[in-house]
Amino acid sequence: MASPKTIAIVKSTAPVLEVHGEEITKVFYRRLFENNPELKDMFNMTNQKKGTQPKALANAIFKYACHIDKLELLGDAVASITEKHSSLSITPEMYPIVGKNLLDAIKEVLGDAATPDVIDAWAEAYDDLAVIFMSSEEKIYEKKESNAGGFRGKKNFVVFKKEEESSVITSFYLKPKDGSSVPEFIPGQYIVLTIDVPGTTHKHTRNYSLSDSNNKDYLRISVKKETYNPEGIVSNYLHSNIIEGDVLSIGIPSGDFVLNNSEKPVVLLAGGVGITPLMSMYKSILKDSKREVVFIQCALNSETHAFKKEIQENLTSKSKSVIVYNEPLVTDIQGDDYDFSGYLTANILKDIGVDSESVFYFCGPTPFMANAIKVLNELDVEESNINYEFFGPSEELMCV
Ligand SMILES: Cc1cc2nc3c(=O)[nH]c(=O)nc-3n(C[C@H](O)[C@H](O)[C@H](O)COP(=O)(O)OP(=O)(O)OC[C@H]3O[C@@H](n4cnc5c(N)ncnc54)[C@H](O)[C@@H]3O)c2cc1C
Ligand code: HEM
Repeated sequence: MASPKTIAIVKSTAPVLEVHGEEITKVFYRRLFENNPELKDMFNMTNQKKGTQPKALANAIFKYACHIDKLELLGDAVASITEKHSSLSITPEMYPIVGKNLLDAIKEVLGDAATPDVIDAWAEAYDDLAVIFMSSEEKIYEKKESNAGGFRGKKNFVVFKKEEESSVITSFYLKPKDGSSVPEFIPGQYIVLTIDVPGTTHKHTRNYSLSDSNNKDYLRISVKKETYNPEGIVSNYLHSNIIEGDVLSIGIPSGDFVLNNSEKPVVLLAGGVGITPLMSMYKSILKDSKREVVFIQCALNSETHAFKKEIQENLTSKSKSVIVYNEPLVTDIQGDDYDFSGYLTANILKDIGVDSESVFYFCGPTPFMANAIKVLNELDVEESNINYEFFGPSEELMCV
């Protein structure tokens, strides 16, 4: 625990951080990548260009400044960041590098307001937080290493099957190149992939959710081709260049967006490629438990709709599949190809008899997730039964 003087000074800087936080974290990342360009390999640099990672870091630092004397209030946030860090194999030696660049960024942005007392207090506060993160990350590494098929760091996996799921989504089936066991995971978790893309200046790190149930034969990821301008670097490379027999370097399955252990019915709400972690949950629930499950899949139309056959084939008396297209093709027939058109609404959930006491999991583009929160609020779903994952750094999910 930081000293009372440090706590008082750090708390007094919270209002300044609320205003200047993002400016500080942008300067921090600029300095970090200038001084240690090798670290670009482990960051998703698109999140830097979009500003989503500087925003997530600014938010975390602000919350830390507010709650430095009540760290228990940061519990979930710390668990979520350390889980992300452990997926990336972040090591203790990296903490002083980050700490120095962060303090230098605070000095650069706050100028004279960053008095020696403020800098000393933040240095102590950073070190304290770093110790919490490092010890939590080490525990995660030890646990994951001891699980079946576990390992630390990165490992080479062979792509032994590549399969098109829709016009935009393709699955890659992976198994360890050295013939060792496939790592266990909890449905909903993802892996980190680090890859060289010819013609670019550094390696690229991306997360991909595991889209099949936990099994001993393979890990499966399913990747959507990002076709906007500029085209997605890694997803397009995987689609166009990675073929069966190629080797990919991946990290151990990670993530805290996972199925809970209760017996309550489950409702899965998927938007576009956000279906991947939910596919894993769906297949696992049907395989391993007696829970009821409703799988609501929102897609553009039949062309982009992935996993239709796989979902249908796995249906049982305790599961239901509902399809919502927001731009059905003229050839898509309601009642046959899909059930509802437009966006997801509370009325759709009422129509299909969703129990608002169920546990809800959702994932998809940010506007889809904002709409999902709104719909679940309209149904008075308890906050503790709502779970979601961003396919990027965490954001505040505002109702649309
Ligand atoms: C936990 C987690 C799980 C994930 N699971 C999956 C999954 O199962 N399947 C899947 O397909 N993806 C998943 N993702 C997303 C995935 O990690 C990648 O972000 C995605 O594949 C895009 O990567 P890319 O390199 O192809 O695109 P990038 O090159 O990173 O570009 C991404 C998007 O940003 C836009 N863009 C690029 N530069 C700029 C700029 N300067 N300003 C504004 N916009 C810009 C591009 O046009 C593109 O639309 C997941 C992400 C997370 C965090
Ligand atoms: C106490 C110090 C640190 C804090 C408060 C912190 C905070 C965060 C936060 C809030 C996220 C976003 C999590 C999410 O929502 O996905 C994150 C991600 C990340 N952190 Fe840290 N972090 C710290 C230290 C470090 C260190 C030492 C490294 C090593 C270089 C590091 C590397 C990363 C990377 C690579 C990501 C993923 C970002 C991306 O790819 O966009 N962090 N961290």
